[in-house]
Amino acid sequence: MSTIGIRGTFFDFIDDPWKHIGREQDAARFHADGLLVVQDGVIADFGPYGQLAPKHPGLEITHIKDRLILPGFIDGHIHLPQTRVLGAYGEQLLPWLNKWVFPEEVKYKDRDYAREGVTRFFDTLLASGTTTCQAFTTTFKVTTEELFEEASRRNMRVIAGLTGIDRNAPDYFVDTADNFYRDTVELIGRYHRNGRNLYAITPRFAMGSSEEMLARCEQLKKEYPDCWVNTHISENPAEIRTLLDLHQDCTDYLGVYEKYGLVGPKFSGGHGVWLSNDEFRRMSRKGAAVVFCPCSNLFLGSGLFRLGRATDPNCRVRMSFGSDMGGGNRFSLLATLDDAYKVGMCNNTLLDGSVNPGHQDLAEAERNKLSPYRGFWSVTLGGAEGLYIDDLLGNFDPGKEADFVALDWNGGPMAMSWHQSLAYEGEGPATVEEAANLLFGIMMVGDDRAVDETWIMGKRLYKKS
Ligand code: GUN
Ligand code: ZN
Repeated sequence: MSTIGIRGTFFDFIDDPWKHIGREQDAARFHADGLLVVQDGVIADFGPYGQLAPKHPGLEITHIKDRLILPGFIDGHIHLPQTRVLGAYGEQLLPWLNKWVFPEEVKYKDRDYAREGVTRFFDTLLASGTTTCQAFTTTFKVTTEELFEEASRRNMRVIAGLTGIDRNAPDYFVDTADNFYRDTVELIGRYHRNGRNLYAITPRFAMGSSEEMLARCEQLKKEYPDCWVNTHISENPAEIRTLLDLHQDCTDYLGVYEKYGLVGPKFSGGHGVWLSNDEFRRMSRKGAAVVFCPCSNLFLGSGLFRLGRATDPNCRVRMSFGSDMGGGNRFSLLATLDDAYKVGMCNNTLLDGSVNPGHQDLAEAERNKLSPYRGFWSVTLGGAEGLYIDDLLGNFDPGKEADFVALDWNGGPMAMSWHQSLAYEGEGPATVEEAANLLFGIMMVGDDRAVDETWIMGKRLYKKS
């Protein structure tokens, strides 16, 4: 058995800050000088250093100084084979897929090409502070195999699955529903709950799925109810129109997934930009999750996700945040928080009743604002709740897996270290509010340079050079 201690300044969450509007710090937990005790990769004890250290005599302790230590970030929606499509110019969703994405993803048929992409994918995740992701792969089995193999080598928790598409894509890219079913069954058998791997039945999106494909997904979920379901939902107006033409018996996008029994716990739909109030209500009732992907929604011009509506306490929807890389033009969830904050602020202009009397909704406007508490909860504990993995990770509770990130509050452009260090005269934060202020600086001004170290199951896998 191996037991180690990490000493430093810790910040995590014990509750959802949207439930504590006005006193969000009550949802957070802060130890200016804390100790995390890790036994075989799992948290055994956590608390103030002064109280805990005497309980663990002889503990080998690593002291991480001048950093804020948070649970590792959770990316609820990312595309492994789009690592080389970052920043592709000029198109909205459907032409972007055809022009840039399918021609790149087809190259992942080749195992060597896939392996190189997978290595760079995980290297970049770790350098971004992301320790867990829910990932799309491609329609070719090798890509999914390579992803799970590499995640296992790094001992990282991932949710992923063969990504099915059998219509509305070029011939060279589509699969058949039967192949998808057969390959998925085989991959579930090999990888689901093997080490830290979790399997998601993954119809790419309803517009790319025939009735047979969706029926196969329904069958898979019935046969393997422990598996996740990962897909896209209501992202782009042209996509939605095409889909509803194909399903004249459905009144909205969610209805198509409901028709095939896919919507419930462990279902997550990326984007949800155009979800109606009624769709939000149904997702809330059924325990399904939406994944907010602001970098992508802005980059592809999909629209402004209604954060304040998704967080309505009367029909609260489970929610993770995702980079949607390469629809999103950044890997970093810090960049996701930056854009999420701006989306919320723009939504509040739409809700401003001074221009359109009747549009005003002060409570929704307040919920649209992404405070540092809401932001960092969303990429840690909240993200884990959205994916139904909060029993495993998301904060520093004993029993959870010890994945964490050490953030340098001076890491970013030159102006950042100047303004952040002035705030505390070079000292670390002494209170939860001071820590939250630094975190807001990191999410709005910082970038990858703020990620100094990333640890997986109590082992340091990344250190900024
Ligand atoms: N819908 C179907 N496929 C994709 C994809 O690769 N990216 C995004 N953003 N939306 C999709
Ligand atoms: Zn996506």
